[in-house]
Amino acid sequence: MGKNKTRMLALALFLQLLCSVAGLDRSQFPSSFLFGTSTSSYQIEGAYLEGNKSLSNWDVFTHIPGHIEDSSDGDIADDHYHLYMEDIKLMHHLGVNSYRFSISWSRILPRGRFGKVNSAGIAFYNRLIDALLLKGIQPFVTLNHYDVPQELEDRYGAWLNPQIQKDFGHYADVCFKAFGKKVKYWTTFNEPNVVVKRGFMSGEYPPQHCSKPFGDCLSGDSNIEPYIAAHNIILAHATAVEIYKKKYQVKQGGSIGLVISTNWFEPLRHIPADRLAVQRALAFDTAWFLDPVIFGEYPPEMRQVLGLRLPTFSSEDRRKLQYKLDFIGINHYTSKYVKDCMFSPCNEGSTESTAFVISTGERNGIPIGTPTSMPDNYVFPDGMEKMVMYAMQRYNNIPMFITENGYAQGSTGNSPTTDTLNDRGRVKYLHGYLTSLTRAMRQGADVRGYFIWSLLDNFEWLFGYSQRFGLYHVNFKTQERTPKLSAKWVKKFLGGPQVIERMNGDLESV
Ligand code: NOJ
Repeated sequence: MGKNKTRMLALALFLQLLCSVAGLDRSQFPSSFLFGTSTSSYQIEGAYLEGNKSLSNWDVFTHIPGHIEDSSDGDIADDHYHLYMEDIKLMHHLGVNSYRFSISWSRILPRGRFGKVNSAGIAFYNRLIDALLLKGIQPFVTLNHYDVPQELEDRYGAWLNPQIQKDFGHYADVCFKAFGKKVKYWTTFNEPNVVVKRGFMSGEYPPQHCSKPFGDCLSGDSNIEPYIAAHNIILAHATAVEIYKKKYQVKQGGSIGLVISTNWFEPLRHIPADRLAVQRALAFDTAWFLDPVIFGEYPPEMRQVLGLRLPTFSSEDRRKLQYKLDFIGINHYTSKYVKDCMFSPCNEGSTESTAFVISTGERNGIPIGTPTSMPDNYVFPDGMEKMVMYAMQRYNNIPMFITENGYAQGSTGNSPTTDTLNDRGRVKYLHGYLTSLTRAMRQGADVRGYFIWSLLDNFEWLFGYSQRFGLYHVNFKTQERTPKLSAKWVKKFLGGPQVIERMNGDLESV
């Protein structure tokens, strides 16, 4: 038997093993379950100045030398703005029934509420949505995934100013009106907890505000601004939800939620202080945004530690917050150990120190899970079940979608190598996390969908193109997309037994 043939056979056996013998299959999820891939506008679209789009804060930030590890930017990225039809074909081939993407605010309203709606931007997303629906793929749309029109930053400091609530409301209204007949799943924000921690506490992301010891920025106050920015995002979310519920939901029949970045935390030591540290770490990370939009209050764990540094909600804010979201989106990748530092020195300047915890990836030199190419990202599948159970218990089993889950590979250049394409690490990761998810669902968690980050390798923020999360490899010079082993695994998993039988042949032809 030829070398190639032996390799193909080994791969087929590996997939077979993971899919069937290990007991994970599509039938463990309800038939209405959304299975999809996830992306975001800045990370894949490119065409950063085409179709009357204005500059976003990330366009400006990435163009300043020294900000991005490989000196890259999102000017072209995956050129999805031009290649979206090809990308939809890839999704159709995978067999997904949903696609999570974000709309670029600066494509729709290049000058925020200070200018006109950009018809070229509306037309682009209409083309994308129509083409998805034609293939039976439900659009799952995020209004804001990190990028905001730079004009709002320059005019009034974007998230630091309550004016942004009005701007976001206007933007959301324009999108609901333009696309709401066809879009049944909306989310307001992607990972606002990351936006405020990295933008206003550590200062790594735009607008690079921070103060010592958290970071060394030209301006900002890491002890105050993250809480102001968070407050404005929470109220901007509430503004959009009120508009959707009052003007559109009955007519359009969709639902609206918020997506949060979640890390699971395990106690470093088996002592009560570390178990309490876990609760504080979760509250300062996940519940910071979810408690206010679900209960109308900041988490008691945060209030206790931060006191009056946390803003309060006025009666008008409370009125808005009565309009509740329909579901939460959970982005989940990894877990860490935490240890209490309420009565001992903390890692001053780390974002976790605000919760009086120290986080670490290792216990006695042993990592919590297999490390990945992303710093601080370990493979710890149990974290998925535990995170979902935490959300289920804290939020009275609110409907949930896993809006992101995925695995990074360090890039070794543009052309696909055998190792990059044979991404067994990703297949094992997805298998492990999905199996863990089924355990939470069997305990009653109301999980309605799961999206893999990401369809394509793309612009990974500060890492540029040096980290690859895609099911499809992208050569950023030629824009060629090549399926990795994980793409075949997903196709097989979604296609059921028939596809499994065809698998050997399929693999030979790829
Ligand atoms: C979460 C973010 O939403 C996404 O933009 C990012 O690429 C992935 N995590 C991977 O880091």
